[in-house]
Amino acid sequence: MILILDLGSDENTVLARMIRDLGVYSEIKPHDITEEELTKLDNVKGIILNGGPLNIVDGKAIEVRDFIYNAGVPVLAVNYAAAKGEHCLDQWPMEEDAMRAVVNSFLFDTCHAEANWNMKNFVADQIELIRRQVGDKKVLLALSGGVDSSVVAALLIKAIGKQLVCVHVNHGLMRKGESESVIEVFRNQMDANLIYVDACERFLTKLEGIADPEQKRKIIGAEFIRVFEEEARKLEGIDFLAQGTIYPDIVESGTKTAKVVKSHHNVGGLPEDMKFDLVEPLYYLFKDEVRACGLELGLPHDMVFRQPFPGPGLGVRCLGAITRERLEAVRESDAILREEFAKAGLDKKVWQYFTIVPDFKSVGVKNNARCFEYPVIIRAVNTIDAMTASIEQIDWPVLTKITDRILKEVKNVNRVCYDLSPKPCATIEWE
Ligand code: XMP
Repeated sequence: MILILDLGSDENTVLARMIRDLGVYSEIKPHDITEEELTKLDNVKGIILNGGPLNIVDGKAIEVRDFIYNAGVPVLAVNYAAAKGEHCLDQWPMEEDAMRAVVNSFLFDTCHAEANWNMKNFVADQIELIRRQVGDKKVLLALSGGVDSSVVAALLIKAIGKQLVCVHVNHGLMRKGESESVIEVFRNQMDANLIYVDACERFLTKLEGIADPEQKRKIIGAEFIRVFEEEARKLEGIDFLAQGTIYPDIVESGTKTAKVVKSHHNVGGLPEDMKFDLVEPLYYLFKDEVRACGLELGLPHDMVFRQPFPGPGLGVRCLGAITRERLEAVRESDAILREEFAKAGLDKKVWQYFTIVPDFKSVGVKNNARCFEYPVIIRAVNTIDAMTASIEQIDWPVLTKITDRILKEVKNVNRVCYDLSPKPCATIEWE
C-alpha cells in the first residue's frame, strides 16, 4: 500500500486514483496519524506527503512528525517546505501524464511496490475479511437497490449467504416503480432474504416543515437506522449493519484539512445510541471501482451501470420543506425524464440525470388563465468519480420533448429549466 498523508492538497483523491490505476493500493490518511495507527496499516511500501493550500489546521501550519521519516519506507514530499529526506518536489508536474511518469517511478523504482491491486484480489480479500468480522452472526443490509447497496449485497451473499438479511425500506422518497423493481430483482431473481418495509408515512411526518438540507439528511439517516433497529429486534440475533458507504462519502464529509462539502447521510446521520457494529466493505472504493467490483461479482450490467441515487432519495430534490404535492411533481417528472432518456439512448451515456422541484412558484398561463405553479429543473451530468462533474449537452429535440411531456403530464408545474452548471462550482445535487 502507498499511504498519502493529507497535508492540505486538493489533489489527494486524484493522486490516490492514479496510484490505484497503476495497480497499487493507496489510502489517504490525516496528517496527524499516530505512530500506532501507522504501524497497524498493512504492508505500507511508501509514503507521499502531499502538501497544498489548505495546510493550516486550528490556526497552525501542519507539521509532519519524525516517526514518519523513520518508518523504514521511502517518503516522497511534494509541495511541503518543511520536508526532510531525499525525495522532494516543489510541486506536481502540471500535465497528468508527467505526474503519472513521477508517480510510477516512485512506486516501482523507489518503493519496489508490486502492481497487484485489482478487483479480483479486492473481492477475495473482502470475502475473507467479512467472514472473519461476522463469524456466524447475522448481518442486516439496507438494500435500496442502488449500485452501492446492490454491490454490498452481492459481496455479502458470496461471503455469508443466508446470514445476510436484506431490508428494503420504502421511505416515500423512492423513484417511481423503484421499490417494486427491488423486490422483483432481489427477492424473485436473486433469491435474497428480503424484507420490505413500507415507512412512507413515518418519514414524511418526521420531515414535515424541515427546510434545512443538512437537517433533512440527518433526519432521514437517523430514521433509517431506527427502522433497521426495529427490524433487527423483530428478527433476533442481528449484530451487524452493512452499509454501502464509499470513499467520496468519507472524503466529502470532511477530512481534517478540507471543509465539509456536505454531510452524506450514511456518515453524518448515525444516531449516537446506535446498537450495531458496521460492515462497510466498499469504504475505500471510488464510484467507478464499486462498479468494477459489481461486474467482478457477476451482477447484471444494467444494475452495475444504473445511475446512482442518493440515500435521502427524492428528499434532496424536493427542495426546502418537503410537501406531498411537490414530491409527486419530482417523482413524476423524474419518471418522464428517465423514460425519454432511455428512448434517446442517453441512459447509457449520461452518468446521472434527474429533476428537481424548488420551493418557489412563478407565474404562467394555462387554459387562458393565470396560474402560479412550480418549475421543474432538469440536471444531467457526467463524471468519473462524483468529485467533479460536467454537464451533458442534450440535443434540443430531446429536451423539448421532455419539456412538453412534463408540462402536460405533471400536476402543479408550469415551467421547465435546464441546469448548465458543472461541479465545481455547483454540486451534482441541489441540496
Ligand atoms: P454531490 O451533490 O455531492 O453528489 O455532488 C455526488 C454524488 O453523491 C450523491 N449524493 C448522495 N449519496 N447520500 C448518498 O448516499 C447523500 O446524502 C448524497 N448526497 C449526494 C449524488 O447523487 C451524486 O451521485
